[in-house]
Amino acid sequence: MSTRTRRRPDAAGRAALRLYAHAPLPVRAHVHGRWWSAPFAPVVAALPPSGRILEVGCGHGLFSAYAALTSADRSVVGVDIDESKIAHAQVAAQGFGSGLSFTVEPSGAVPPGPWAAVVFVDVLYLLPAAEQRRLLAEAAGSLAPDGVIVVKEMDTRPRWKARWNTWQETVSVKVLRLTAGSSFDFVEPGEMAGWLSELGLVTRHERIDRGRLHPHHLLIAGRG
Ligand SMILES: C[S@@+](CC[C@H](N)C(=O)[O-])C[C@H]1O[C@@H](n2cnc3c(N)ncnc32)[C@H](O)[C@@H]1O
Repeated sequence: MSTRTRRRPDAAGRAALRLYAHAPLPVRAHVHGRWWSAPFAPVVAALPPSGRILEVGCGHGLFSAYAALTSADRSVVGVDIDESKIAHAQVAAQGFGSGLSFTVEPSGAVPPGPWAAVVFVDVLYLLPAAEQRRLLAEAAGSLAPDGVIVVKEMDTRPRWKARWNTWQETVSVKVLRLTAGSSFDFVEPGEMAGWLSELGLVTRHERIDRGRLHPHHLLIAGRG
């Protein structure tokens, strides 16, 4: 069963996009493109309504900003390896207060918790499977007792959506170099759920790709 998600931004989505109103045109185009292509609403709905939230691989920070804007009780920290994207995210967050901040972190780093949630939105596929697994273990170790790991990724099925996604990522990562990375490794959701289970987490899987060309899916893992 898959959830249909709307593309038109809700009030918090519009407010998040407005944070980039004075950003250079390529950044504005990028964040609007991200909103249009990625179903952020069900990912944000999987986060706890309050507490410290970490987004690993936050890019320009649109998802982190949206998470902060959908609940004033969340304190969101976004980290990424890309200094230029983080610089734009920091400008966007100016005036937001302490509820939204961004820092550059080296690849594979998870800043110290405890986190109410660690969220990955279209990031893990840029790492080899073994590194994805190691990063998830690191994230699990940094969770608060009732914390959750939320992973938004692309499924390997149906095959036609997976092929379309791989083609588009090839253009984005290897040709246009819009995203840091040199290869991708889309892990089958059942396999990733197995890794999380070995970390002692109970995982729920949700498809969020109804009406969309990309095979978006969500894994939500907590201690039960
Ligand atoms: C497709 S973008 C997604 C950005 C953001 N999460 C969003 O949904 O808009 C992938 C991001 O992952 C970042 N990234 C790639 N490898 C990473 C790593 N090893 N650690 C942290 N971030 C990484 C890239 O710099 C890029 O900003």
